Amino acid sequence: MFYPASYLSRVWLGSQVSPKFLPSVARPLSAHIKLTENCQARCISCDYWKSRWQDAISTERAVALLNEIHALGTTGLRFTGGEPLLRRDFFEIMRRADAARFKSIIVQTNGLLLKKLHKEINESPITKVAVSIDGLKDTNDQIRGIRGYFDLGMEGIKLLRNKEVVLSVTLNRLSTSELKGLAAAASDVGAKLEFNILSRSLYFLAGADLDAMWPTKPDVIEIARFLRDTLHRPEYEIDYITRYYNRELLTEPPCVLGYLQVFVLSNGDVLTGCYPLKPVGNILNDDLGNILASDAYMRQAEAMIRRECPGCTCGVESSLSMKHAASSAFYQISNLAHRPPPPRAAGAPESSASSATTTSP
Ligand SMILES: C[S@@+](CC[C@H](N)C(=O)[O-])C[C@H]1O[C@@H](n2cnc3c(N)ncnc32)[C@H](O)[C@@H]1O
Ligand code: SF4
Ligand code: SF4
Repeated sequence: MFYPASYLSRVWLGSQVSPKFLPSVARPLSAHIKLTENCQARCISCDYWKSRWQDAISTERAVALLNEIHALGTTGLRFTGGEPLLRRDFFEIMRRADAARFKSIIVQTNGLLLKKLHKEINESPITKVAVSIDGLKDTNDQIRGIRGYFDLGMEGIKLLRNKEVVLSVTLNRLSTSELKGLAAAASDVGAKLEFNILSRSLYFLAGADLDAMWPTKPDVIEIARFLRDTLHRPEYEIDYITRYYNRELLTEPPCVLGYLQVFVLSNGDVLTGCYPLKPVGNILNDDLGNILASDAYMRQAEAMIRRECPGCTCGVESSLSMKHAASSAFYQISNLAHRPPPPRAAGAPESSASSATTTSP
């Protein structure tokens, strides 16, 4: 039996006090799966759309993978990509794997197919739809490289029923002055706002045009004010983001992601919750449980605590939260994986942007 509270306590003690307390086996709270890394958008911040990727995980293997994840006691799934809704067998996989057994199923999407697929989504066990929108209409469409993206995404959101919905915004220079408007637009359609920090160190972002999007010092002040006054983020997080965007020296927290999340890529590679470090196995020739229990996984998860890595900002809010943990932080971290869906009646917006959390690629 898997007890998340004592597991998280050990991750906290092991990362902040002594490695001897670290769990002996990784039991990630959530599995992030890329069934495809193909994409039909053309975002200036991201490289995925520039390549044709091979989807190596078959329908059968994907169904078995979800069963393995459930058997491990991992209760959260996050489907990302590429664009996860491009996989034609996506809903079949969830149905055949009885995905309703999971407490939380998040789909991170560009939103371009929400309008077309809203019935399938509404009938599925998906608990949360996170739609990437980076600014108001014209700015968003410029960043995402598709004219009409903003309107199509928002129209799709309005058709969703009984799902938690969030707009995922990557904080950037072009839309800094629109953040409050974006929070209001989210609220109008019953969505919350989550944010993400611009990254240039991940394999699918290396050639992206980030200079055009990097906030200037005045932008950073405005972003910090928005995070503090509208999203009510903790001060240590705002300080980190301010320093990061201003390219100042950062005090990096021990990285706990190897214990909180596991990644499966579209070629079957398994990552220890970290994009820059090497794969530790592949689900096309092994069971996920074996990979999680392997020396390779555990050695790498421990090395991440010691920050033996190139460094990145992806998921840093979890590591910051562990470093600054009070009892409430454990609640916040477990919420990343187990957020239950609020009821969302037809055409009845009921949430505001004031309780935002962070998102990741
Ligand atoms: C790579 S996308 C994959 C899922 C889906 N295609 C989408 O856009 O939501 C995952 C998240 O990464 C964000 N992202 C894109 N470029 C980024 C960058 N340079 N730094 C940080 N996040 C980025 C996207 O906006 C999105 O919220
Ligand atoms: S951020 Fe998402 S929508 Fe944009 S190109 Fe990358 S994978 Fe596609
Ligand atoms: S901070 Fe380091 S260990 Fe953590 S996810 Fe980034 S590169 Fe990996």
